[in-house]
Amino acid sequence: MNNLNPFSLQGQHVLVTGASSGIGREVAVWLSSQGARITLVARDEQRLKDTHRRLAGEGHAIAVIDFLADPDVSAWMKKLAKESTPFNGLVHAAGVQAPMPIRATSVSHWEKIMSTNVTSSFSLIKAFRQKGVCQSDSSIVLISSVMAKVGEPALLGYCASKGAVESMVKAAAVELAREGIRVNCVAPGVVKTEMADSLKDLVGVDSMEAIEQKHPLGFGTPADVAYAVNYLLSPAARWVTGTALVVDGGYLA
Ligand SMILES: NC(=O)c1ccc[n+]([C@@H]2O[C@H](COP(=O)([O-])OP(=O)(O)OC[C@H]3O[C@@H](n4cnc5c(N)ncnc54)[C@H](OP(=O)(O)O)[C@@H]3O)[C@@H](O)[C@H]2O)c1
Repeated sequence: MNNLNPFSLQGQHVLVTGASSGIGREVAVWLSSQGARITLVARDEQRLKDTHRRLAGEGHAIAVIDFLADPDVSAWMKKLAKESTPFNGLVHAAGVQAPMPIRATSVSHWEKIMSTNVTSSFSLIKAFRQKGVCQSDSSIVLISSVMAKVGEPALLGYCASKGAVESMVKAAAVELAREGIRVNCVAPGVVKTEMADSLKDLVGVDSMEAIEQKHPLGFGTPADVAYAVNYLLSPAARWVTGTALVVDGGYLA
């Protein structure tokens, strides 16, 4: 640990989900540049290898998982920690938006969003707190969204899922404080990634411009989120738990 710089991640081992794309990929690349060793997680191994090539430093690993396949996340994470070292941090950036008007939303569509965004968060938190999986003084960061706090058309499932994530963070923070684990989330506004591209394809250029105008500082970049994650993982945030750090270019304001 670098005592001179409380934001340093030197020597930390961090598991990053969603590392094959967008925010998760940039989080992994940035954290590695700050001295962390990363275990990259998603479904697409080729895209994970692409992220791996962009990492600074050495000792990084790839672990493939599909949260929709009902995996035993606890056994999987225990094995990862045993093969390497226990984790100092977990960043959960895997997620889906899957916009759909209420009239067209089936129960299976709803459940896909809930499994990917909510059940995975619960399973990862439960897995991370196991003996031998995390270090003492560790930190969990879930990626929520401003959609936890406000609504937009066609995002019923997504908004509900992110609201659940933010409530989960508070309950987990209170319960896991005695185990030395801090639990927080970052709540971004619209960030330029594949997810935002899909939204543009769905709503069209004009609507996307209207959404951008709701962000006084414009749309964000994955790096804007990565820097906030860096803070929450680092010793600088040792007194911060149970909170949602909004990083949204002024959208909620
Ligand atoms: N972009 C935005 O505007 C924005 C705004 C607010 C919040 N967020 C949140 O930020 C997070 C990342 O979003 P993003 O924009 O980076 O999205 P993205 O580019 O679409 O990336 C989503 C990631 O989730 C992984 N993933 C999806 N389903 C999975 C599953 N069943 N099992 C394992 N991994 C799965 C994908 O990897 P594979 O396909 O390889 O599995 C990919 O790495 C999400 O939680 C999102 O809700 C995004």
